[in-house]
This record gives sequence, C-alpha cells and structure tokens, in this order.
Amino acid sequence: MANKTKFQAIKGTRDLLPPETELWNRVEQTAREVFGTYGFGEIRLPIFEATELFARAVGGETDIVSKEMYTFEDKPSGLPDPSEVPPSDYTDAVKHAIKTGQIPATVKNRNTVAVLEFQLANLEARPEEQERAYLIWSHMAGGLQLGEEVSLRPEATASVCRAYIEHGMHALAQPVKLYYMGPMFRRERPQKGRYRQFYQIGAEVLETVQPASAKATAGGAKDAPKDAAVDAEVIEMVMTYFARLGLEGVQLDINSIGHSAPAVDGKNVCRRGYVEKLKAALEKVKDKLGADSQRRIETNPLRVLDSKLESEQGIIEKLPRIGDHLCAECAKHYAELKRQLDLRGVAYKENWRLVRGLDYYMRTTFEITARGLGSQNAVCGGGRYDGLVQLLEGPPTKGVGFAIGEDRVVLSLLETKNGSAAQGRDVYIAWMGEEAQATAIRAARDLRQAGFRVELPPVEQKFGKALGQADKLGARYALILGEDEISTEQWTVKRLADSKQEKIAKAELVEFLKRELMK
Ligand code: HAM
Repeated sequence: MANKTKFQAIKGTRDLLPPETELWNRVEQTAREVFGTYGFGEIRLPIFEATELFARAVGGETDIVSKEMYTFEDKPSGLPDPSEVPPSDYTDAVKHAIKTGQIPATVKNRNTVAVLEFQLANLEARPEEQERAYLIWSHMAGGLQLGEEVSLRPEATASVCRAYIEHGMHALAQPVKLYYMGPMFRRERPQKGRYRQFYQIGAEVLETVQPASAKATAGGAKDAPKDAAVDAEVIEMVMTYFARLGLEGVQLDINSIGHSAPAVDGKNVCRRGYVEKLKAALEKVKDKLGADSQRRIETNPLRVLDSKLESEQGIIEKLPRIGDHLCAECAKHYAELKRQLDLRGVAYKENWRLVRGLDYYMRTTFEITARGLGSQNAVCGGGRYDGLVQLLEGPPTKGVGFAIGEDRVVLSLLETKNGSAAQGRDVYIAWMGEEAQATAIRAARDLRQAGFRVELPPVEQKFGKALGQADKLGARYALILGEDEISTEQWTVKRLADSKQEKIAKAELVEFLKRELMK
C-alpha cells in the first residue's frame, strides 16, 4: 500500500485561524493607531537578509546568531550539479562563475578551485587512484561557497538600521520614527509562548548626530536629558498601547547597562570596567555555576545575570552591580530616564540584572511582562543602541526602540479574557421560499454595506434548523424572511440572547440594528 504523507506545520510554526485572527488584527490595528499618534510611520522589511548583517548587529556570540538562525546559501542558478557533469566541466564552470562574479571570489573559494584543479590533474594522471581522487575532488567541490549566506530575520532592528543607511534617511527630518510588524525566526526549543516562527510589532527612533555633537554617541553628557526623554516617550508609547489593548498584569522593568567607554589612564571604565569586575567575581565562584554560565564567563559575562537556574540565584545576588559602576554621563542619563518616566506617570521597577540578549544595547534597557504566560512572560524588550548604524557603515546615529512579542500579547489577552476571540455574526438571515431568497440576498448586501457581519445560508432551511445554526455561529440577531414578511414588508428580527422578537419595517432595519448592536 502506498505510504500516505500526512503534512503538518513544521515544529515551532503554526497556523493562526479564525476567530483568533480577529484578535490578531485588533492587536495590529491598535498598534497602528497608537504609534501613529506618536508620529511613527510603517516600514516593511524583507524576511531575509545577509547573515553578516545580523552577525555584526546582534553579535556573533549571542545565542540568536550562534545557534538560532535559519541560514542558507543563496545559490546562483545556471551552475550544473557536480554529480551530473564531468569534473573538468564543473571545475571550468566554477572558475567562470568566480570570474564573472556569479559566485563570491573569496580566498576560500579561490583556494578550493586550486585544489579542484590539482585533483583533476590527479584524476587524469593516475588511473589507479581515480576513485580516491574523485572522492576528494567532489568533497572539495561541496565546500565551495556558491552564493551569499543569507538568514531568515531573527529580529528587525538590524534591518531597520540597514534600510536607514540604504535610503539615506539621515537626510530626512530627524529623528526618523518607524514601526514594523511581521514574522521573525529563531530556532529555539518550542514551548508555550515560544515559537520558531513568531511575530513581532516593533518601533525604532533613529537620529543621526551632527558632526559638532558627534561626540555624543561616544557618551557626551550634554545630550543625556534629551536622549532620556526620547527613551521615556518610547516606553510611554508601548505602555499606552498595552493599556489600550487591556493587557493585564503589565510590569515594566528598566536598567542601564552603561556604554563601552574608551579606557581612562589605561583603566577600563563604565561597562568595560564593570564587566572586568564581574568576570573576576565570577571566576571566584566558577565551580558553583552551571555549564552555561561557566562558558559565559568567557564569552559574555553579562548574560550570566540572565540565568534562571535556581542554584545560581543566591550567587548572582552577591555579584557586583552595574549601577555602582556607571560613568557620570550614563548615571545622569539613567537618573533622567527615571525622572522622565515619573513625569509621564509610567510606573517601573529597577532591575539591575536586566542585560538583554543582544549586543547592540547601551544605557537604557527595558522589558515588559504580562499575566497569563508562564515562564515566557516577556511581552516586550527594548533599549537604546547608539552607534549601531555606524557599526553597519552608516553615519554616527542614535537609536532606541523595542519589539513586542505579538504571539504572547494575544495569548495573554486570551488567558485573561480581554481578548474574546469570538468572531460571531451580527445577523443570520433565515429565509424560506424562492421569493424570500431574492429578498434575503438584497438584505444581506445592504446590511454588509452598512458594516454588519452577515451570514446568508446558501440553501433554504427550516426555520428551526436555521435558528440553531445562527446560535452555533454566535449570531446576535436572526432576520426571519418568510412568505408573511415578504408580503407585508414587515420583517421579523429575533434577538437570540433572549428570543425577543419584533417586526421591523424594511426601511428601518439598518438603523434598528445599529441602535441594538451598540447596546
Ligand atoms: P527580543 O527581546 O529578542 O528583542 O525580542 C522581543 C520580544 O519578542 C520578546 O520580549 C518576546 O516577547 C518576543 N519573542 C522573542 N523570541 C520569541 C519566540 N521564540 N517566540 C515568541 N516570542 C518571542 C528584539 O528582538 C529587539 N530587536 C528589540 C528591539 C528593538 N530593541 C531595540 N529595538
């Protein structure tokens, strides 16, 4: 018997179905409305980008880049499959493709071509060694980098900065305020609230600094109040948005992680100085830490503070804290951020362990959690990233932004019942008789034009069955059209919640339903 393939969504991905998609639309529409009132415009970005963009922006040592990206080679078309043509033809085709720029002229590729040619000579010169020479030849051919390495985006801040540079947005009125929404991809272990394809709604504020104040990106003090006000407004915006959605149990955590200041008198200061002290303190307790944290002492000691491992909590509490090591400018920025949040009536909790898992942050970092989510309860993360645009070969530019985990927001709304997923119908049209069908079709068209959600059964049904169906669909009213209604032009409208029935003149139906449904 032929094997039946049962196709299923790939692990960590899922279909979003009605009626839940209605809630997704509300979550997105509300973001558009709220962000619009703060002067943000939408940017739509590609789903994949050069891997190097994420490696450079997010950081090669981060979990996101080192373990979680979906990466593939964007191969050129036209190159034959090495197993299908003679080795000499394939080698020639590769040489030609490098020469014409079809495949990258990297050192590795050039060396590989040299080895391919060497093995070709072996193939021809020593018939007794042919099998081995061919194996080596084909192994080397498999190692060629045929195209650019690209990755599905694990986040979008890097793309926004790339686009900012590519479109010369530094020449626009500053700051540039952009928002985006769409799928992101990370190969994480799936669980409730954690998916491999998930959706973010994010916003970024970018401002290229003029040469006179370019020093500011390196930590100048004079911009601290202004920058902190921008940070606070961005945070206020996302909190306003969550309040508008009715998200429950929202808690905002903030921190400052300082900046990478140049050494003063040969001594590291601010974040570098702190990381040095943190590393030394971690070395002393290394034996008591788990394997992940032990590894991070070398690769990224700050991330040890993120650890959720029960056995490490007591140890982490005793570690040096970044707040005690901020330089004067960063301390000023942080104090001003708190003042600005107070001015806006935004409640926050200081959390010195909030370091975030992406390398581009400096000074302000923040995270927002909400109810009903279990361990994956962060619904938003963000912070300041001055210098990221410059790191991607753009002009000195300040940046601050956040991304909201849309999947988690929807989940929280559903769990706390603020996101009724009921799609329902406003009106179910129960009709019987040929003449009634024509009237029902016209009534459906008029009601839909007026904005009501209408279900019009395609075939005649007994009224009892039709009303049962209306109930199942969660309709609020049934419009009953039988012989009597057609001849008198007085239509029967039944409220399904309490079976209250009224006769309404055809011309008054739309106004009647508008009044009723507003109740
Ligand atoms: P992030 O903290 O990596 O930051 O992600 C932001 C939010 O996306 C998280 O708080 C979470 O709600 C959601 N999220 C992340 N991974 C998953 C997943 N596997 N499944 C479901 N939801 C997830 C960033 O991405 C930064 N680009 C934020 C930013 C913008 N910073 C400055 N500008």
